[in-house]
Amino acid sequence: MLIPAKAVGEWVLAVTAVVSMFASATTAAAGEFAEGKKLVSEHNCEICHNNKTLGDAKAIYLRKDRKVTSVEKLKAQVAVCNSELGLKLFPDEEEHIVAYLNDTYYKFK
Ligand code: HEC
Repeated sequence: MLIPAKAVGEWVLAVTAVVSMFASATTAAAGEFAEGKKLVSEHNCEICHNNKTLGDAKAIYLRKDRKVTSVEKLKAQVAVCNSELGLKLFPDEEEHIVAYLNDTYYKFK
């Protein structure tokens, strides 16, 4: 049986997409960027941070005197915001958030 070249091409594209998804998920944390982005907006993280930084959502992560200076501290801070505020995030959701915040702002290796 002959497999049409077009089907092979589509299969290669699909495999490439899956592989690059895994590649981006293995940066500093095990979480997923898209999932973390969704969680951060669902849990109103930025609204609360805005109150502290006078309207600039990114400022809390990028401020000079920020507390978070490593992936470990980022994980710890997300856990603090989670438990202090009773957000009831699961550990894997915290991982997604760490991946999203790290890829977007902190860029720890
Ligand atoms: C009730 C308000 C509130 C909510 C909701 C909140 N935070 Fe925070 N968050 C803070 C405050 C206040 C600080 C600053 C702490 C400090 O400077 O001591 C902070 C700091 C942080 C920092 C560290 C910033 C830095 O580099 O110094 C991270 C990361 C963070 N929050 C993540 C989150 C995430 C993720 C969520 C949502 C799941 C969230 N926060 C929800 C109030 C909140």
